[in-house]
Amino acid sequence: MLRTSTILLGIACDAQLSSTFYDQSCPTALTTIRTVIRQAVSQERRMAASLIRLHFHDCFVQGCDASILLDDTPSMIGEQNAAPNRNSARGYGVIHKAKTEVEKICPGVVSCADILAVAARDASFCVGGPSWTVKLGRRDSTSASKTLAQSELPHFEESLDGLVSIFSIAGSHTIGQAQCFLFRNRIHNQTIIDTGFATTRRRNCPTSGGDQKLAHLI
Ligand code: HEM
Ligand SMILES: *[C@@H]1O[C@H](CO)[C@@H](O)[C@H](O)[C@H]1NC(C)=O
Repeated sequence: MLRTSTILLGIACDAQLSSTFYDQSCPTALTTIRTVIRQAVSQERRMAASLIRLHFHDCFVQGCDASILLDDTPSMIGEQNAAPNRNSARGYGVIHKAKTEVEKICPGVVSCADILAVAARDASFCVGGPSWTVKLGRRDSTSASKTLAQSELPHFEESLDGLVSIFSIAGSHTIGQAQCFLFRNRIHNQTIIDTGFATTRRRNCPTSGGDQKLAHLI
């Protein structure tokens, strides 16, 4: 009896992600996703950045569970309209396309959470960034949380000290674009920013108006 339960527990606890998770159940899943991502990035190069960020914004809220993809319902306020995502997170359509294509070949097999993870990797590789092996087998969440999205994702006006305490180390963006209203205060009001860089950025981001004007993150 003890033996049986030990074995059962063993199975439950051994459930682990694996890069070969879909090798039997959907052998062409990864190439199918890659085709969709390649197409989207060749249509709009920035999409690579947007897909990487989408995966990051999914993972920081409840883990990498595709919660970011869930629409609001009468009983649940999801993450898409949380401040860090609203009018900012992009690439939902591309993920939807990848999921649709994968469903055509293996219905009900590949999770959206895995698609988000694979899409970010493929997007990076497409634009000459690094590639990595993605472990697979994530389960999709049936719930999402606007509140958690607002508290767990880093705020755009966070100080350097604050960022270091969130991440233990602070890196920087290497790809993608940002909207003027998110960095206006830093380039017009703050002295800790490099003056040359601030001057350049001010040219396309006035003290008022032009909220959506884009600047490259590097
Ligand atoms: C350290 C704290 C971070 C802060 C405060 C932050 C903040 C921001 C902001 C304000 C934008 C511009 C959004 C917009 O204009 O709508 C942005 C864009 C972006 N972020 Fe972050 N971010 C952080 C960390 C990260 C990390 C860790 C990643 C990757 C894993 C990442 C990936 C990106 C990418 C790729 C974009 C460009 C998206 C696009 O062009 O569509 N960020 N981030
Ligand atoms: C500069 O800071 C002041 C005081 O916080 C604020 O009212 C103003 O809107 C800021 N200006 C810009 C361009 O962000």
